[in-house]
Amino acid sequence: MRILLTGCEGQLGRALTRVLPEHGELFAVSRADFDLSLPEKMGRILEELRPELIVNAAAYTAVDPAETDRETALAVNAVGPDVMARWAFRNQAMILHYSTDYVFDGENTAPYREDDATNPINVYGETKRAGERLIMESGARYLIVRSSWLYDAVGKNFLTTILRLAGERDELQVVDDQFGAPTPTWWLADTTAYLLMRKANGVLNAAPDGSTSWHGFASAIIDEMKKRGRPLKVRHLAPIGTEDWPTPAKRPRNSVFALTRLHEEYGAASLSWQDALLPVLDRLPKTERPV
Ligand SMILES: NC(=O)c1ccc[n+]([C@@H]2O[C@H](COP(=O)([O-])OP(=O)(O)OC[C@H]3O[C@@H](n4cnc5c(N)ncnc54)[C@H](OP(=O)(O)O)[C@@H]3O)[C@@H](O)[C@H]2O)c1
Repeated sequence: MRILLTGCEGQLGRALTRVLPEHGELFAVSRADFDLSLPEKMGRILEELRPELIVNAAAYTAVDPAETDRETALAVNAVGPDVMARWAFRNQAMILHYSTDYVFDGENTAPYREDDATNPINVYGETKRAGERLIMESGARYLIVRSSWLYDAVGKNFLTTILRLAGERDELQVVDDQFGAPTPTWWLADTTAYLLMRKANGVLNAAPDGSTSWHGFASAIIDEMKKRGRPLKVRHLAPIGTEDWPTPAKRPRNSVFALTRLHEEYGAASLSWQDALLPVLDRLPKTERPV
């Protein structure tokens, strides 16, 4: 099978380049090779490569900047995926696309199921939802994997930011009234490979089991690093409310997914978010400060 992977230099894209070669001949493209805001060039490359599976790990993921850059976010998160999905339909290919807990408003008290009503509360979420809808309407075979709170040992994400700040400051303030499941890219890449093997389709929630707040996640990271003898300056993690940490984009309070389809329909193994974190910490650079 010929596989096109977009966004191969993003945090999830890098993890997918490890697992996808087991499923076929992989063509991994970055923004420089395959820009989702350039539909004509995309069309030419799709015709040249003729993939049977398109895995779209590219996205405009800057949640706060999206508030004032709706046009670009929409081009990358909705128009680009639509171009790929329509090409997939015309050429009997399949599209595997990633989406987000931010398609929901976070007001549910229970975990979100795949078929719960969406209602994004920021521009990023709105453009990701538009991308989902266009893929669903394209007629192509699709799998839309919704995940949450992605992180890795390198790059710019919550884990690397917390570790950097914990090396610099005595006290950190972390939001403790938004809840979700931290998802390492290695786990989402392995789960993607499993779902491909199981020929999964439709919309599917994918995150490790359990949930926590950003404060709970930060505490787990720091406790584990201290156990590993990592010298950190931080002495106190102060829990704060969302209203004490104003950001341009609103965030959902509840980002927790129901994982029934993942576990019961597809038989994916369970792993707690705490256990999923440990291999990431093992991979951290052995310097005093993370990169
Ligand atoms: N991060 C999260 O917490 C999170 C949570 C839930 C779901 N997701 C979803 O998971 C997927 C992967 O996210 P991620 O965290 O791996 O994101 P990421 O690290 O920001 O990677 C996104 C990649 O897309 C590329 N990109 C941006 N604009 C592009 C364009 N116009 N054309 C082609 N490529 C472009 C970026 O390139 P540059 O580096 O050049 O910008 C980057 O390599 C996305 O669909 C995202 O919406 C993410």
